[in-house]
Amino acid sequence: MQKSKILVTGGAGYIGSHTSLMLLEEGYEVVVLDNLINGSQEALRRVEHITGRPLTFIKGDIRDRACLDQLFSEHDIDAVIHFAGLKAVGESVGQPLAYYDTNLGGSLALCRAMQAAGVFRLVFSSSATVYGPDAPVPYHESMPRGGTSNPYGTSKSMVEKTLEDLSHSDERWSIVLLRYFNPIGAHPSGRLGEDPQGVPNNLLPYIAQVAVGRRPSLKVFGDDYATEDGTCVRDYLHVMDLAEGHVSALGRLSLPGTHVYNLGTGQGLSVLQMVEAFERISERPIPYQFAPRREGDLAAFWADPHKAQQELGWLARRGLDDMISDTWRWQRQNPHGYRTEINTTSHGAS
Ligand code: NAD
Ligand code: WQD
Repeated sequence: MQKSKILVTGGAGYIGSHTSLMLLEEGYEVVVLDNLINGSQEALRRVEHITGRPLTFIKGDIRDRACLDQLFSEHDIDAVIHFAGLKAVGESVGQPLAYYDTNLGGSLALCRAMQAAGVFRLVFSSSATVYGPDAPVPYHESMPRGGTSNPYGTSKSMVEKTLEDLSHSDERWSIVLLRYFNPIGAHPSGRLGEDPQGVPNNLLPYIAQVAVGRRPSLKVFGDDYATEDGTCVRDYLHVMDLAEGHVSALGRLSLPGTHVYNLGTGQGLSVLQMVEAFERISERPIPYQFAPRREGDLAAFWADPHKAQQELGWLARRGLDDMISDTWRWQRQNPHGYRTEINTTSHGAS
């Protein structure tokens, strides 16, 4: 049976490329809109190669209304998964206008274009950061959004509120807000993964670059948090599980209103536990030094994932060893990410 056509904004990025792959595997048609500011067309070529199915790529900006209108007039889009945005927390503090412009302005432009085209089904990439610093763990969707300490987090919170208001204003809208915890990992082929530009902000890409010899050592930010080993605790989940969560969320788009789900495993792991697991699986040493706490970091948070399980039938299925061995396979085979073609042959998951 022919499945519907999904617009994936930001589909050339980390989570978007893995989700596009899964949509193609599930039989959906996929149109990707991405301006490639932090994405790669090579990722999309690999998605097509792995799945054996074509997708449509449109290089364009989410804020460009004319581009969006043309896209909706040329493609019969059934639903939109909206990943496009800027995501570096530290950078957002110095560039608030860029972050509000892209993340909030881009989402407004998208919703206006969807409305004009009569497309009212939307899945939005939100973040656990919207719970704010004072929420008790585990985070549950019934908790209110908290204060945010940086423009990135504030932009996610503002888009969530905007989308709630939109769905209240017109019952044709059906919107799912997915609050991701800490996505890591890569496609098991080792051909698709996270390819940060410059120095990685996030823990796993940094560890992986140390393991592969691109960086000498890791700085562990803070050793005196009130956690078991003094380092911060996060809920890391596999990007393929996250991709499956988006496919599950499409099924929820038959209901009007806004529906919010945590996508996490429900389990917290410390920075040192991640380092030890990476050393064990890669069989490489990860030299590290303790460094001062990073501004804005919370000691520990993880998801209560039950709502997604009950209502979407979604559950993170992949464990820590899968997350790390898939990250390591990707990093080993592509030490410089998509910029080199060191290994372009397909490898099995084992
Ligand atoms: P990413 O940077 O790899 O992907 C984002 C994509 O959006 C990139 O390909 C980029 O080129 C594109 N893009 C940026 N601005 C654009 C614009 N103006 N027009 C068109 N395309 C544009 O990031 P990711 O990790 O895949 O994250 C995807 C989404 O999930 C983002 O909205 C991010 O805020 C959200 N999110 C990510 C995480 C995480 O830890 N990775 C956690 C929570 C939420
Ligand atoms: C994890 C832990 C660091 C790097 C961020 C965003 C969040 C979401 C996911 C988008 C922390 C420690 C890190 C390093 C370290 N993104 N660390 N040395 O901060 O939980 O979440 O990404 O929505 O909004 O804030 O993830 O991977 O940056 O850090 O010690 O070189 O690793 O201090 O404890 P974080 P992270």
